[in-house]
Amino acid sequence: MPACDTLIRNAMVIDGSGAPGVNADVALVGDRIAAVGRLHDYSSADTIDAAGKALTPGFIDTHAHDDIVAIRNPEMLPKLSQGVTTVIIGNCGICAAPVRLNGSPPPPMNLLGEAREFRYPTFASYVAAVKAARPAANIGALIGHTALRSNHMDSLDRVASSSEIAAMRAQLKEALDNGALGLSTGLAYTAAAAASIDEVIGLAEPLAAAGAIYTTHMRTEAAAVLEAMQEAFQVGRESRVPVVISHLKCYGIDNWGRSNEVLASLHAAANRQDVGCDCYPYDASSTVLDSRQVDERVTITITWSTPHPEMGGKTLKQIAELWNVPQIEAARRLVPAGAIYHSMSENDVRQILRDPKTMIGSDGLPNDPRPHPRLWGTFPRVLGYYSREQNLFPLAEAVHKMTGLPAERFGLADRGLVRENYKADLVLFDPKTIRDTATFADPIQKAQGIESVWVNGVLSYREHANCGPRTGRFLARGVNAPTAERNNPKEQTQ
Ligand code: ZN
Ligand code: CU
Repeated sequence: MPACDTLIRNAMVIDGSGAPGVNADVALVGDRIAAVGRLHDYSSADTIDAAGKALTPGFIDTHAHDDIVAIRNPEMLPKLSQGVTTVIIGNCGICAAPVRLNGSPPPPMNLLGEAREFRYPTFASYVAAVKAARPAANIGALIGHTALRSNHMDSLDRVASSSEIAAMRAQLKEALDNGALGLSTGLAYTAAAAASIDEVIGLAEPLAAAGAIYTTHMRTEAAAVLEAMQEAFQVGRESRVPVVISHLKCYGIDNWGRSNEVLASLHAAANRQDVGCDCYPYDASSTVLDSRQVDERVTITITWSTPHPEMGGKTLKQIAELWNVPQIEAARRLVPAGAIYHSMSENDVRQILRDPKTMIGSDGLPNDPRPHPRLWGTFPRVLGYYSREQNLFPLAEAVHKMTGLPAERFGLADRGLVRENYKADLVLFDPKTIRDTATFADPIQKAQGIESVWVNGVLSYREHANCGPRTGRFLARGVNAPTAERNNPKEQTQ
């Protein structure tokens, strides 16, 4: 009779491939899934009856900003409590490493943490810090173009010179050699807006040989969104790398209803090259406050402000009235600041979410004192609200968008599926009750219905219980974990 470390019986196994759930047992040995099926002859001292529950691969948050928080608060409760077992950090052009600051972090790098927390001059030093911190979720990392610009340029309001591009490229190469998954840009932000497409293509040059990827917070998501998409696709073609468009959306009231055009453009590109996108399940965005984004027709909530911390939680309209100034002037007085922009149409969000190319990414901002609810709610909201209540897609398809699809996209070879010999990153949840509880008014709230979460074979989270050991790992690009790690994951826990 085969023994195993953990035996999960009678679960509805939704394997992450998009195929519908099947009733099965799953046996874990060490950090791996040892068997899936009708395992009558298996036994374990740790046996769980999962009747009526869904067992799926651990969710992969394709769009995260946990770069610094994964070290500062390695419990990563906002993510683990949603069933997220892997986060992809370094999105939108910003990252914690390799970074050497000259003063305060230029926006939007200030979303990640304080100046003193940017202390990883090489990517290797950051990887060492992640390993020492032992975060609860696995970490895969992109390298941010804006961070590299800030390392090598004395002013960010111009295009990089060829020697600056060469210096950025050398740093990107160091990061890729140490396991980074790819390059991200945030061309919409002032710190990178002056970069030309040639600057990006010049920098992206080492990606193809490394088998790495390009993700982009595009130059604009408003009127010229289609042109911005073409720019992203061109970078992918000329650099010969897959492209992921970050948080694909139609931004601003004047662009509502254009999701069909945007998706048509994505699918047209997909006929010639490898492209995809991520999306969060809300009709409001969140980032630094930028006066260029102020539109009096849109509700903008201030989440934090360095000069005016007392205004956190108020809308820009309220603050403008209080100060008796136009909203644009209030915004100027509030920066540096963070904001939530209620700037999308629900129908566009739905169209993009349901597209087969769309992966789920939270874009959660863990450093924000009044975060957008996507930080704690994204994954259960897709499963509960959009799949179960709104019938936007079947549950197995929702799971695929947050497991098998992103694992394939980011080259996480032995994750994202419930399959024999895959890493045992797993979530057990109640498909009838799972739901997000974080709201704009009350955003720091754990999801309901996530019963258990295993990370690398170890039970790390249970609803209504204290967290278990932290067993996340740094996921280097293209590297399958050596089999030596396989048999004794418990020695690595604490
Ligand atoms: Zn972004
Ligand atoms: Cu982002």
